[in-house]
Amino acid sequence: MTVKIFETPEVQDFLKAVAGFDQDGGNERAKQILHRLLSDLYRLIDDYDITPEEFWSAVSVLNALGQGTQFALLAPGLGFDHYLDMRMDAADAEAGRTGGTPRTIEGPLYVAGAPEVQGRGRMDDGTDPDAETMWLTGQVRDTDGHPVAGAKVEVWHADSKGGYSFFDPSQSEYNLRRTIITDAEGRYAVRSIIPSGYGCPPDSPTQQVLDLLGRHGQRPAHIHYFVSAPGHQHLTTQINLAGDPYTYDDFAFATREELVVPGQRIEDAAEAEQRGLEGPFTEVVFDIELARTEAPELQQRHKRPRALESEEQESALAASAQV
Ligand code: DHB
Ligand code: FE
Repeated sequence: MTVKIFETPEVQDFLKAVAGFDQDGGNERAKQILHRLLSDLYRLIDDYDITPEEFWSAVSVLNALGQGTQFALLAPGLGFDHYLDMRMDAADAEAGRTGGTPRTIEGPLYVAGAPEVQGRGRMDDGTDPDAETMWLTGQVRDTDGHPVAGAKVEVWHADSKGGYSFFDPSQSEYNLRRTIITDAEGRYAVRSIIPSGYGCPPDSPTQQVLDLLGRHGQRPAHIHYFVSAPGHQHLTTQINLAGDPYTYDDFAFATREELVVPGQRIEDAAEAEQRGLEGPFTEVVFDIELARTEAPELQQRHKRPRALESEEQESALAASAQV
């Protein structure tokens, strides 16, 4: 079939009606965006001669993604999260905001309201005895090298099987999720366990789409961070542990060279005792540099639907950024 009808006045008028251009109500920006999106898709249907069978199988994949709340899992795999990062990096560069630890994607598995600890704490619930003990520590500094005391360091990561608490109901509440407030020297230190890499569930609609692209759905072992302090630009980032087979082959495109961190295995008993640990452990050191800013909107994370993040928490965050 070689029909080409996209450019006809009939189709062009039809698209305007579909996008509500002839209606007073609705939202102008939504109309413009939907008109553009539908135009691109209609053109694609013409250009690739999309058959009804192909169209309806795409609809059924979208239904499956929706039912399983899977689209937020697929979005990083399709590069959207990284693309938004690239745009924010470019906006920072254009505005002359330079320096600071690089951002990388938040991912879909953050949960608000994790327990808060001062300076030091423990993130794991002790129920994973085979996991390697991790000592995760670092210093938060500004771009002039001054320590930032009282910075809020939110950390979350997977367990030794690659699962996240809350999303994996077999784990205890807030397991491997903590908010750490940095001490007078800007330091944070937590005991936890070395996370494993994460893989998209093999029979999920997300993996089904990746299979069509000939791609895997694996992430390297990684640790997520939100870091904030008054007068500083909010940072969303992650570290990827060095030496994982997927460190440089992340399906979510979150790896950045500056964020690849080696773990150091320490067997010395005195070193362990100093940190209150019983045996050998792996130390992971990640120092964070925050750029300074007076703009309140740059001091907080952007809004998006997040597990257990209520309206009240949002407005409390907004209020605290204004003082
Ligand atoms: C996905 C999972 C993660 O743990 C992450 O950090 C990013 C993306 C995902 O399933 O898409
Ligand atoms: Fe993750």
